[in-house]
Formats: sequence, C-alpha cells, structure tokens
Amino acid sequence: MAERRDTPWWERGVIYQIYPRSFQDSNGDGIGDLAGVIARLDYVAQLGVDAIWLSPIFPSPMADFGYDVADYCGIEPLFGDLATFDRLISEIHARGLKLLLDFVPNHSSDQHPWFIESRSSRDNPKRDWYIWRDAGADGGPPNNWISDFGGSSWEWDEATGQYYLHAFLKEQPDLNWRNPELRAAMSDVLRFWLDRGVDGFRIDVIWHMVKHEAFPDNPLNPAWTPEVRERDKLIQLHSTDQPEAHTISAEMRRLADSYGDRVLVGEIFLPNDRHAKWYGTPEQPQVHLPFNFQLIENPWDAASLRQIIADYEGSLPAFGWPNWVIGSHDAPRIAARIGEAQARVAAMLLLTLRGTPTLYQGDELGIGEVTIPPERMRDPQHLREPERGIGRDRSRTPMPWNDAPFAGFSTAEPWLPLNDDWRARNVAAQSADEHSMLRFYQKLLALRRSSPALTIGSFTLTDAEDEVLSYIRQAGDETLLIVLNLSSQARGFATPHGYGLGDTIASTLAKSDATTGTVAADEGVIFRLTGKH
Ligand code: GLC
Repeated sequence: MAERRDTPWWERGVIYQIYPRSFQDSNGDGIGDLAGVIARLDYVAQLGVDAIWLSPIFPSPMADFGYDVADYCGIEPLFGDLATFDRLISEIHARGLKLLLDFVPNHSSDQHPWFIESRSSRDNPKRDWYIWRDAGADGGPPNNWISDFGGSSWEWDEATGQYYLHAFLKEQPDLNWRNPELRAAMSDVLRFWLDRGVDGFRIDVIWHMVKHEAFPDNPLNPAWTPEVRERDKLIQLHSTDQPEAHTISAEMRRLADSYGDRVLVGEIFLPNDRHAKWYGTPEQPQVHLPFNFQLIENPWDAASLRQIIADYEGSLPAFGWPNWVIGSHDAPRIAARIGEAQARVAAMLLLTLRGTPTLYQGDELGIGEVTIPPERMRDPQHLREPERGIGRDRSRTPMPWNDAPFAGFSTAEPWLPLNDDWRARNVAAQSADEHSMLRFYQKLLALRRSSPALTIGSFTLTDAEDEVLSYIRQAGDETLLIVLNLSSQARGFATPHGYGLGDTIASTLAKSDATTGTVAADEGVIFRLTGKH
C-alpha cells in the first residue's frame, strides 16, 4: 500500500474510547460522569492519544446504558449538564485533543418524546417517525426478524393495535429514516453538537438505519447452531445494509464536511466487500472510518491475522483510510481473550498497523478476566440470553486509578465491580513501573506519533515462520520491520531481502535479544531496517 502525504488529524491520530459510566465518578454516586472525565484529561493527554470518543452521554433511562436516548440534545443528569459539557470540550481542546460523540440514529429510547407522541395514536404526526406495522396474517409479528438481543424484533402496542420494530431492546424503538421530517430533525441534532465544537461522531449501528421497504422475512442462516446467539438464526439481509442507508450516510458526511475538519466513524459489521462501500466514492464520500472489528472477531494466530490484514487492505477503495480496533464496551477484554503477554503483542500490532487505531479504556492497563457475581450483572444483552456467556459487563468495569478505596474511581461502591486485581493493576502502580502495560502503551504511542513510517507510511507484509507475523512500514528514509511472535516458543525470523537489520526500537519484553534473528516467546519487536530505499 502506497505512502500517503495529505493527512488529516484522524488519519495520523489514535482514538481513545471512554465509557463515561466507568471512567471517573466526581460526585460519589458510584457512576462516572463528565466532571470526572475532565478531572482525568491530563491522564488521557499523557497517554499520548489524539481523540476521545465518548460513549453516549445523553438523557437516557439506561435500559441499554445510554444507547437508548431520550433527548438527543441534552446531557444525562447522572453525567452532568450542558455547562459541564461545554467545559469538557474546551478542556479537551486546550490539551490539543479532539472529541467525538456517540450518535445513536437507528433507535431512540421508548421514553423519547418523539416515541411517546408516535405511540399515542395512529394519526399522530410523529407516527411515521418510527416503524409501525399491522400484525401478520396469523395475528403474530409482521415478519420473522429477530432482535440483536434475542426474541422478536416486533413489540405489540395494545393501545393502537400495531407492532413497532426494535432491532435491539423493546425500550429502543427503531426510527424511520425514510421519513423526511425525522431526517431533518436528526440533521439538526448533528448541527447542535457540531456548533458546540465537537470534532465528529461515532455513529452507532449505522448499517442498521434503513430496512427493506416491503419488510420480507429474513432468510434462515444454515450455519446457525443452538450455542450461537439467537440473532444469528437469520441472515439480516432485509433488516440491515440497505442502499438507502448509504444515501443517508453520504448526507451526514456532507453535513460534517460543511464544518471543516470533522470525522465520522461508522459502527459496521459486514464482510469486506460490503464494508468497503461505507466509504462511498470520492465524489460522494460517506463515513471517513467504517469501524474495522476484525482483530476482535478472528482467531489470534499469525495465519489468520495475516489473511485478514491482507484481505482488508485489499478491499479498501483507493482513497479509503484503514482503521483497527481491539477492544470496546461490547467486546471481551483483549487480555482476557489472549492473555497478558499476547495483549502486549496486540498493542504493538494495533499501533503499528496502517490505519487509525481505536483503544478502549482499561486495555492500556491490561485488564483481563473480571469476576462479576450474577446478582451484579447489569448488561441487558446478558440478562436476556444469560446462558450464552456474551455479557458485556466484564468490559465495562470502572477504571482503577490507584489503591485507595474503590480504586480512586469513586467514594462509593461502583455500579459494577472493579477488576479483581485492582490493588495492583491500577494507573498509579503502572505509572511507577517502567515495564508495565501502561508504560508500554505510552512508549508505543509516543513512538507512533514521532514516526511517519508508523503513522502514514506504506505497509508490506513479509514472509515469516509459522506463528510469526511480520511487516514493513516505510516513509521517506525511515523503514521499520515489525516482527510479532504469536507463539509461546522462540522463533527465528529473516531480515527482508535487501535490507540490513538495524536497532531494536521497541520490544514487548523488558529485555530483547531479537537482533540475533530470534524473537522470544510472546515477543513483539520493532526494528529499524537499513539499506534499500
Ligand atoms: C452498538 C453499541 C452497543 C449497543 C447497541 C445498540 O452496538 O455499541 O453497546 O447495545 O449498539 O445501541
């Protein structure tokens, strides 16, 4: 892939996701808030990231912890108010950081005034702002669609005698993006926040936004087995990724571009060919960064990674900038999945691949498996399908800042338990230990920032032994070789043809002997290459 020179901030930068309920509590209610985020901004700046993506902070009954919005232009009182928000954004900008908000267009809360009006009668002017249908011929739901959280996607409304659609909880009715008034109202929402100075949005489940006009049944998924989520019984052919959603995404982009240097990140889970379409075309661009979750979704071995990286790079449109994610409030913790040693390798991979990385709070501390007693589980997805072990609470535990009571997160019992090892695994302890995961992240982030090869350089996979992934990043006269050993045994590697092996710039280990041509078990290394430019 060629080197690019015309680079906006979001191509060079690193995004850091803050889950506001769990970052820092400032008022002793056990729930994080905006004043808490402000108090921890120096930490974020010192970490060395460029932008904060804040999960939803809008008024919400919290059925899905903020992804059920009851007012798109307000601040949830648990989190603060608009004045605190304005202070947050100016403090963020004062540190040279950017702020992305989480825009949730597919659905609102059932407590949003729009929905309350919509369900009040069939002829209410806002009826058509949501998706209402008569019962099917048998008196049941209009079609076979299944909610992402299990059960039918349709909820019967006794008062008006129709079903409404909800792709997630019944407390999250889907909005009707085919309605021009709804579209105009949502553009006003985006303007409201852009006018307040936000630098962009992460757009929640953007590929869900429009449904097939005729609402046909979704086809059965022949690969489904009972261990898999109920959602996956069907292929979401007609309920997601409709052509009209791309038109809307292009409209959102035009709006964002009219404000200058802003960025839109779209949450999208699709195969590469359909995923790439969310970039749009040079004439009609859509989101800048369609989120790429493949490092989360695929097995952690060198052959798989090599394949997904090559396929993804190969699928991008010429003008499309890649991006990579290894953690989120929805995914299992990377250190829980692959262990701490490999989590360091994952950090090195994330921060040396070509494309914008998104880092999730707490992964920089290597938080791994967390014990949550059943009675403290809060995630509605888990509570609806407990037998599947897909609960998201384990990734949402509060940030451990120090070894004070409640880890300095709060003065009260937090809404979710802390990580079991918080007394040792916290920001203060790791800041003081030069070999900690936190210091490793800081080092890698600083290295990435200072290195054109890592930020905007070309990317070339190189040949390697089994269980080793290696690639070259190159810009100007800086050429780097990254060698990642995904196995728990030492492995050899060859210096790519025509180059000489220079210094070791970084290793996942405290001490590395990799210049001898061998990477230790679970070691990742960044080398400088000499010769051949
Ligand atoms: C997205 C969010 C997730 C939420 C869902 C419904 O996938 O990341 O947390 O539950 O959308 O809004």
